Amino acid sequence: MNNVITFFNKKGGTGKTSLAFSIAKDFNYPLLSNDDSVIEEIYPNKAKIMDKVELIEHDVVYDLGGYIDPGIIDIFKGSHAIVVPTTLDINSIKRTINTVMEVHRYCDNILIIINRVKKDKLAKYKQSLQALEGLGKDIIHLRESEIITNSIHSGKTITELYGESGLTKSQYKGVFQDYAKIIKWLKKVDEVDEYGI
Ligand SMILES: Nc1ncnc2c1ncn2[C@@H]1O[C@H](COP(=O)(O)OP(=O)(O)OP(=O)(O)O)[C@@H](O)[C@H]1O
Ligand SMILES: [Mg+2]
Repeated sequence: MNNVITFFNKKGGTGKTSLAFSIAKDFNYPLLSNDDSVIEEIYPNKAKIMDKVELIEHDVVYDLGGYIDPGIIDIFKGSHAIVVPTTLDINSIKRTINTVMEVHRYCDNILIIINRVKKDKLAKYKQSLQALEGLGKDIIHLRESEIITNSIHSGKTITELYGESGLTKSQYKGVFQDYAKIIKWLKKVDEVDEYGI
């Protein structure tokens, strides 16, 4: 069975494209987007930007811009998982809650990624984060790290950059552990689907 993973948030600048690219390339899936970015240059032949994206019968990652139209709703409905990254600020968290409540109607398998986490900032956003937790969806934290910008610049995934040397393995250990949780969560969704459990 094909696996469809969709990255979406009505709030922009939360890490959708960076994460969608890294996950797509790590899974060797095509990456389709309706939002302009560098993905076609860094992931040639596998990434495509189009005015209108459609649901395809294939393993695929979608990186969708922040608006909802009927075509996009079909993609939500056909998704095995919708990943909603948010940055750690109240406005972004509020719009993320709103996004999750909206897309939940079409696909309830939703992973929220609290992105660009700096540990010392978590306490400050406690109340907003509690509201986010109240949605009852799985949440994974991904720390702030230059590996994300390096990934989009180099066209190498987070896994590839982490694995380059002993030095990168120690430098990126923490952020790679965070990322590995995302990969694991997405693989679990795939397995559940595969065996119909
Ligand atoms: N964990 C992180 N650590 C450091 N920088 C990050 C992290 N996640 C994302 N960024 C940076 O945040 C910026 C926005 O990321 P990205 O373009 O992936 O978001 P987006 O949701 O696709 O934005 P848009 O709505 O504009 O399409 C980029 O400069 C990216 O490098
Ligand atoms: Mg983007």
